[in-house]
Amino acid sequence: MNKISEAYKILQENDRGHYTIPTKGLYPFQWNWDSCLTALGFSYFDEARAWREIQTLFVHQWEDGMVPHIVFHEHDDGYFPGPEVWDTGREIPTSGITQPPVAGLVVRRIFERAENQELAKHEALKLLPKILAWHEWFYANRDPQRTGLVALLHPWESGRDNSVDWDEPFDAVPTEGVEPYERRDTQHADPEHRPTKGQYDRYIYLVQLFRSLNWDNSKLHDASPFRVIDPGFNAILIRSSKDMAQLAQALGEETMSNKFELLAQKGEEAMEQLWSEKWEQYLCYDRAADAFIDSPSVGGIIPIIGVDSHAPQIARRLEHIAQHCKYLVPSHDPSTLEFNSLRYWRGPSWLIVNYLVAKGLRDSGQSEIAAKIIEHSIELIEKSGFAEYYDPITAEPCGGGRFTWTAAMVIEFLKTDAL
Ligand code: DGY
Repeated sequence: MNKISEAYKILQENDRGHYTIPTKGLYPFQWNWDSCLTALGFSYFDEARAWREIQTLFVHQWEDGMVPHIVFHEHDDGYFPGPEVWDTGREIPTSGITQPPVAGLVVRRIFERAENQELAKHEALKLLPKILAWHEWFYANRDPQRTGLVALLHPWESGRDNSVDWDEPFDAVPTEGVEPYERRDTQHADPEHRPTKGQYDRYIYLVQLFRSLNWDNSKLHDASPFRVIDPGFNAILIRSSKDMAQLAQALGEETMSNKFELLAQKGEEAMEQLWSEKWEQYLCYDRAADAFIDSPSVGGIIPIIGVDSHAPQIARRLEHIAQHCKYLVPSHDPSTLEFNSLRYWRGPSWLIVNYLVAKGLRDSGQSEIAAKIIEHSIELIEKSGFAEYYDPITAEPCGGGRFTWTAAMVIEFLKTDAL
């Protein structure tokens, strides 16, 4: 199998012209961070197509700056919760929550490798103010006390939907009043690989609550019983701000560059509060309960992409984790009781996480462990194809198949030496 051409074939199969779906059946719309990371894959074959992927997402940016996690471009009954449940009142419907802000990080990479510099400048100049509005939206709406750390109001915002990290904060989320619903995900994927009913009830409770507040972001933070600071998410935001500060500088956009720089600086200083000496990684903080969440998930390792002050410890931590599983990087510490090798974000390894972690490690001088992560990623697709995620012990493919961002990451791993 030529891995790169097989990966590109998957991107083409899931290409809808101006956006890409993550996989057929399970995810039939445009997802925010899927889309941005997919653009990295497109950029090696068709730069204009890569830019279009990101521009499409930002066409659906809300007036307040938020970039939604799903854009429902076409009608499809195969997904729950669909546009009628979100009811955000937009002409082309979107969800009402956001997702990890990888756009800035991706835009800088695509710009730097672009052969068509004229196109790249034009596209980047269009995106810079939109990405700045999104980043400023985060700090205005998700950090009202200006601590430097933004909170997530729904586990879906983290991208790590059913992580062990959310078990405790979910105790504060009731399920009374949840309207009857029928899940669709378990018709496309093995229910053993997916979140539980208890988790889905809470996901939907939060959607109903925010909907009852008319998706007014100035109200949602304080009204939500779920307010959690995810170190991985914050570090992605910081990294994207740093990358956008550099790009804005290169394009002569001094004012924007300074604004991005300030956001990144404040975030980076605040991240230190989330470091755990006990685990040698970062931990989530439950802002609603005012307490740390003592859960060693990959959310505490992803920060290497944005903050390098603990790089040697993170590298050591990964060496330790590697003694308990075969394929890095598991989404939860495999030596804990909560680890579940098959269930979505409670153990399986994901290639997009591997990309973020390996890139962060390489950038901070930890190339040996970064190389190991990339090696494991390639072994996974060789053994089990382009799955959504994998059992980190047996390499069993899990979730959806022929998955777009997995394919994009393989292209990224194989095409670039420098990540
Ligand atoms: C899902 O439906 O599983 C998604 O992760 C939510 O964005």
